[in-house]
Amino acid sequence: MKSPTPTPATLGDYAEAARHALDDAAWAFFEGGAADEITLRENIAAWQRLSLWPRVLRPLAGGHTRVTLAGRELAHPILLAPVAHQKLAHPDGEWASALAAAAQGAGYVLSTQSDVPMESIAQAVLAEAGCGPLWFQLYWQADRGFNHALVQRAEAAGFEAIVLTADAPVQGVREREWRHPLPPGASAPAVHLQHAPAAPPAPDTYCAGVPAHAPTWDDVAWLQAQTRLPVWLKGVLHPQDARQVQSMGVAGLIVSNHGGRTLDTAVVTAHALPLIRAAVGEALPLIVDGGIRRGTDVLKAMALGANAVLIGRPLVYGLVSGGALGVARVIRLLRDELEMAMALTGCRTLADAGPALLAANGAATGTVK
Ligand code: FNR
Ligand code: LAC
Repeated sequence: MKSPTPTPATLGDYAEAARHALDDAAWAFFEGGAADEITLRENIAAWQRLSLWPRVLRPLAGGHTRVTLAGRELAHPILLAPVAHQKLAHPDGEWASALAAAAQGAGYVLSTQSDVPMESIAQAVLAEAGCGPLWFQLYWQADRGFNHALVQRAEAAGFEAIVLTADAPVQGVREREWRHPLPPGASAPAVHLQHAPAAPPAPDTYCAGVPAHAPTWDDVAWLQAQTRLPVWLKGVLHPQDARQVQSMGVAGLIVSNHGGRTLDTAVVTAHALPLIRAAVGEALPLIVDGGIRRGTDVLKAMALGANAVLIGRPLVYGLVSGGALGVARVIRLLRDELEMAMALTGCRTLADAGPALLAANGAATGTVK
């Protein structure tokens, strides 16, 4: 007899199942991108277009996926990206995704716009043996004192780093969401921002004054001085900005275009990553996100100089399909695919993945050793 619902075998299968399970408005929020969604699509396509150039007959015994990130050894290089309002995907929301990450040894970045308070996430996750790093993503608020308070809360709760998002001074033009708006009150109130003072009126008319309160490089320095935690920057694409990050002693950066949700036609991360790695040298930790859907994508990201990757929408697909268990399955699937890709390209460890692993149009992009 034909099975009505085949077992999901790929992240794409999980996406398809999530598309059917969610209503149009929730799907538009999670899956959509800015404007024509060119960057959203190209993020995925760019990883797909890179060709792997496998080596054979290399010894693979003792192979593993371990990496060192910011001084910590991780079982594998897959972390969960900050994704807002996860209760729209599953009643357990961020609590489920954080627990899944901990069980799978995956790092976790909690969004400022989480539906679950940071303290309950930290309490649930930090008790798990083998949990990965737990970081708090900060959306800069107009009131410096309120940013300070949020950071202090994160420190007190046990978060290990602050990730300041730099690429969203305004929301992108999210036409898919405008066509399928969430009904009022559909998403829970933003638990971390409930007591945020209202932004003072901005004198300029540029984008209705919203960018007047967006963070600047000065605010990054200010933030660093407010916390003993390492500060990461998320949403950097330009090598010059990456150099500035480095000169300020920022802990690391996340090469990201916000999953194609802010500036459409922005450069894809698979193209920005190697240029940024070349600009900053080997010392600065780099994480990349945007369109990572296969183990081969993770391997390509590592070959182009990433130390780890974030996945955003795939965690939502897992959450929709089965709460914490669904997210855990998604992480495990991606990790299993990564291990396969490593074995099939002759990489015993991720240190073996370098530019020589990639071929473009039949020509090696790196030096063939
Ligand atoms: C995001 N992203 C995001 N980033 C951030 O810094 N703070 C946030 O609150 C959110 N919220 C958010 C919601 C949703 C529904 C999505 C899809 C994304 C961006 C996210 O952290 C990450 O950069 C991208 O999702 C990575 O691209 P992929 O993996 O979704 O292709
Ligand atoms: C988004 C915001 C919350 O991408 O980052 O929807």
